[in-house]
Amino acid sequence: GDLPDSRLPLRGRNVLVTAGPTQEPLDPVRYLTNHSTGKMGYAIAEQARNMGAKVTLVSGPVSLQAPHGVDVVNVRSAQEMFQAVQGAFEASDITIMAAAVGDFRPAEQAAEKIKKNGRERITLELVSNPDILAWAGANRREGQTLCGFAMETQDLEKNAAKKLTSKHCDMLIANDLRTPGAGFATDTNVVTVLRPGANAEQPHVEHWRKMSKRELAERVLTELAGLHAGIAG
Ligand code: CTP
Ligand code: CA
Repeated sequence: GDLPDSRLPLRGRNVLVTAGPTQEPLDPVRYLTNHSTGKMGYAIAEQARNMGAKVTLVSGPVSLQAPHGVDVVNVRSAQEMFQAVQGAFEASDITIMAAAVGDFRPAEQAAEKIKKNGRERITLELVSNPDILAWAGANRREGQTLCGFAMETQDLEKNAAKKLTSKHCDMLIANDLRTPGAGFATDTNVVTVLRPGANAEQPHVEHWRKMSKRELAERVLTELAGLHAGIAG
């Protein structure tokens, strides 16, 4: 039935997760990317599955195993990730965007390998990629719950607050790349969690202790499940 089950609080819910880096091709042999390993997003997808959800995981290229019982959509570029998210968002009850999406891509993808040709310096022209989370925030319908991440190296709370508001998220999980135990390749994370407050300038802010990405995934999904249950009634 539809009664909430305390062990499977997300039973009957669709959860959409983005994870990993994107690869933005430059020519047939090269691409631009970042240090994301996908660990945080995969931990969230697995936890959502454990809580009974039907999970769609849109993943950039990572070396992690596809979690059992999770519907994985493999993508490379930000544009491919955007397409996959657009296809799954409508049906999603809770969406969590943990991917490290490339903000820019090469303006042109060379058809042939770019040659040195004796040059000492070359310039790459980049164009902006779609902001997938911002698109979801702008197109969310009533009853959908949206959670973003933020990676900062300075002014964490101020920058994260801006993202929470401008991307219309219910929750934003921010981490400082330079905090010990936080960042890309670690199995732990240290995060600051922001929720909309009374006004845009004053979000509700919590500093969470260092914990495994697995435990963090559990706490994040427990909060999101509660929020969603509150919204959905
Ligand atoms: N994000 C996204 N699509 C993009 C860029 C970011 O969906 N093209 C999402 C990320 O998955 C994350 C959130 O937006 O959930 C914040 O990403 P982040 O890189 O920290 O912020 P940006 O808005 O891209 O701003 P900047 O990189 O300039 O700090
Ligand atoms: Ca970015």
